[in-house]
Amino acid sequence: MRALVAMGERSASQVRALEGCSAQLHGSVVHFALVQRPDIDFDPADPAHAQDVLLRVHAFSCNYREKGRLLQAARRPEGGYLVLGSEFAGTVVKVGSGVQDLQPGDRVFGDGAVDATSAHPGLSTQRGSQELQVLPRAKLMRFPATMPFADAAAFSVGAQTAYSMVRRLHPARGAQIAVTAATSNTSLFVIQALVARGHAVHALTTSAAAVPRLRAMGVKDCCVLARSEDADPVLQDYLAAHGMAKFDAVVDPFMDIYLRKLVRHLQRGGSYITCGVYQQFSEEEPDAFMEQGLPLAEVFSLIIRKNISLVGNNLGTTGDLAEALADHGAGRLPVPLDSVTGPGGLAGFVQRTWLVPGRQGKVVFSYAADERGGQP
Ligand SMILES: NC(=O)c1ccc[n+]([C@@H]2O[C@H](COP(=O)([O-])OP(=O)(O)OC[C@H]3O[C@@H](n4cnc5c(N)ncnc54)[C@H](OP(=O)(O)O)[C@@H]3O)[C@@H](O)[C@H]2O)c1
Repeated sequence: MRALVAMGERSASQVRALEGCSAQLHGSVVHFALVQRPDIDFDPADPAHAQDVLLRVHAFSCNYREKGRLLQAARRPEGGYLVLGSEFAGTVVKVGSGVQDLQPGDRVFGDGAVDATSAHPGLSTQRGSQELQVLPRAKLMRFPATMPFADAAAFSVGAQTAYSMVRRLHPARGAQIAVTAATSNTSLFVIQALVARGHAVHALTTSAAAVPRLRAMGVKDCCVLARSEDADPVLQDYLAAHGMAKFDAVVDPFMDIYLRKLVRHLQRGGSYITCGVYQQFSEEEPDAFMEQGLPLAEVFSLIIRKNISLVGNNLGTTGDLAEALADHGAGRLPVPLDSVTGPGGLAGFVQRTWLVPGRQGKVVFSYAADERGGQP
């Protein structure tokens, strides 16, 4: 079976790559390779695999978080490689004896549910690029044949996280909601979920070129921040221009960038929900835009004085993912797809996933000949 791996210089010379490329990432050279690994299998009669499923991955994608993990792997003095991929779409090959509701040929992607009752909370796998996977039934969700594999491989993490954040934010009718890093994969899902429910979304972005696309998605307006300039006067002008004193709520995938900038622009009793931080890997230079805003002591004090609800969010529930999939099926949640590539296009996949500015959604690698995913 094939898999996408990342490694440092030392291991790259020892690994036989079907296809390879290298990139400079945060001061380190990282080698990426499509490699052959031994196939995996299980005996469906084996009680240890009663609740397991063997599936063949047709398409996969990577996430922001993997950049930190692959940098660590590339910098490891002892070498070795890291198998990549935190989202996948595939078909069931065989099921364990206790799995009644899936059968060979069913189309599945990961269910990263973190429900308190789940025996396996979190991502289904962090090796989603491996063509064969043995995963617990509970970590999979079936998707319909109308959804191409490429879309399905770009769906589950963003959709589940976004629907969880919107459910937990539970905005009041008429609430004015700021969504930060509006062009991030996560926020593209959040914006669509909020707009589909009729909420007023204010898209905060550092990508001026993305404004027409964000407007077309139905946001009320866009507040463009320049990473080299002070954000606060821009936020003040934006609120004044839209007749608002403050935002009612904020949805933010990069808390270490935006909390310090937005707490003062959030209503008394407002809500701030966040699913991540920007600084997940070492930077050569401290990021000046990130450092902008109130000192943390003042942020903490304001959160208390203004009775702000600050909510951390990790992925979501199976119900969140099912609701997102239903919305997708009903045409209310198109998958934000930047590009689909396959064998022969590894360098482009790496570039668009982690390196180029102006990405317009998820980047998918498809093993299937028909990239948008018909039948492989
Ligand atoms: N906990 C969970 O369940 C969960 C799930 C999914 C994601 N996450 C987290 O959510 C965050 C976003 O992930 P993602 O995959 O959506 O990220 P992504 O698509 O890679 O985000 C890229 C966006 O970040 C913004 N950005 C990039 N560099 C920036 C800089 N120097 N200053 C300011 N903004 C910058 C840009 O948005 P603009 O151009 O619009 O400003 C850019 O389009 C990560 O922290 C990730 O770990 C968490």
